[in-house]
Amino acid sequence: SPSDPDLVERARAAKEKLGDKVFVLGHHYQRDEVIQFADVTGDSFKLARDAAARPEAEYIVFCGVHFMAESADILTSDDQKVVLPDLAAGCSMADMATAEQVAECWDVLTEAGVAEQVVPVSYMNSSADIKAFTGKHGGTICTSSNAQRALEWAFEQGEKVLFLPDQHLGRNTAVRDMGMSLEDCVLYNPHKPNGGLTAQQLRDAKMILWRGHCSVHGRFSLDSVNDVRERIPGVNVLVHPECKHEVVSAADYVGSTEYIIKALEAAPAGSKWAIGTELNLVRRLANRFAPEDKEIVFLDKTVCFCSTMNRIDLPHLVWTLESLAEGNLVNRIEVDKETEAFAKLALERMLALP
Ligand code: 13P
Ligand code: SF4
Repeated sequence: SPSDPDLVERARAAKEKLGDKVFVLGHHYQRDEVIQFADVTGDSFKLARDAAARPEAEYIVFCGVHFMAESADILTSDDQKVVLPDLAAGCSMADMATAEQVAECWDVLTEAGVAEQVVPVSYMNSSADIKAFTGKHGGTICTSSNAQRALEWAFEQGEKVLFLPDQHLGRNTAVRDMGMSLEDCVLYNPHKPNGGLTAQQLRDAKMILWRGHCSVHGRFSLDSVNDVRERIPGVNVLVHPECKHEVVSAADYVGSTEYIIKALEAAPAGSKWAIGTELNLVRRLANRFAPEDKEIVFLDKTVCFCSTMNRIDLPHLVWTLESLAEGNLVNRIEVDKETEAFAKLALERMLALP
């Protein structure tokens, strides 16, 4: 069992043996049993910066998903090794944009005569290949905590943005935060010829949104917002920007996982909150703030974990730390040099955003 005192003790002992050689990063969606061993926790932006700020650690154990570990490898030095405790911890959204599909999309934009006006902006939740494409074409990476600044920067460089791969973050930022209209956005479907768009539609659009989404956040609906408002009068609805546009439009507050935590820390005792994001985080916050009488509920009625985040559990962490402590490098995530160079360009543009 994950709370098995023997496993907890083994993780503690292996970590102690490794000392400063290991640095453990934990994304906010990780299980409690894993989070207790994290040296730092954060949203994807904070973790990318924290990984880069630990040059003395030989091993960076990334408790999160594959694209986060890749980004950490890109931002750390060559002799630092980034380790993902379960190699099957991917992200279904990141898998929705492959290098071949994106190259094909660029051909479509070129044919339509718009490619020179387009700046790619890719969400952190993408493979290193997509980040390299972005860097090569003068674009930047963004996370849910800096998407508006990334888009503002991109519109200073060009007239149009190709936003990959999360249509919702792209649309929500453009329309809710930057005053664009829904008509300024078109949806590029990689499974249709020419993305399902005409050259004229591409010429008219300001935001070309890739047809990707997060299946965890896709479960929240306008009904779940209306239901919770009815059930809990005075409730504040706080959601992640990966939720659908109609959900974000109906919410009171929108932000990254780190933003959600900060908002609840600042909330007055006795306030009521419905949170639209992954369940490990919401449960942890509900437990943490229960003594202050802040009522924190999950926005939807059905259970909604991110199954790939959940793959990192205490047994995988123990195996990883014990292997490293015995000198066996396991589950290393290593991006090839050429991809890394271009992906780094895009990530560094993000880190340099005002
Ligand atoms: P944050 O950057 O808000 O932590 O989000 C990462 C993620 O995968 C959300 O689904
Ligand atoms: Fe990917 Fe969604 Fe899981 Fe975040 S919650 S890692 S976007 S599948």
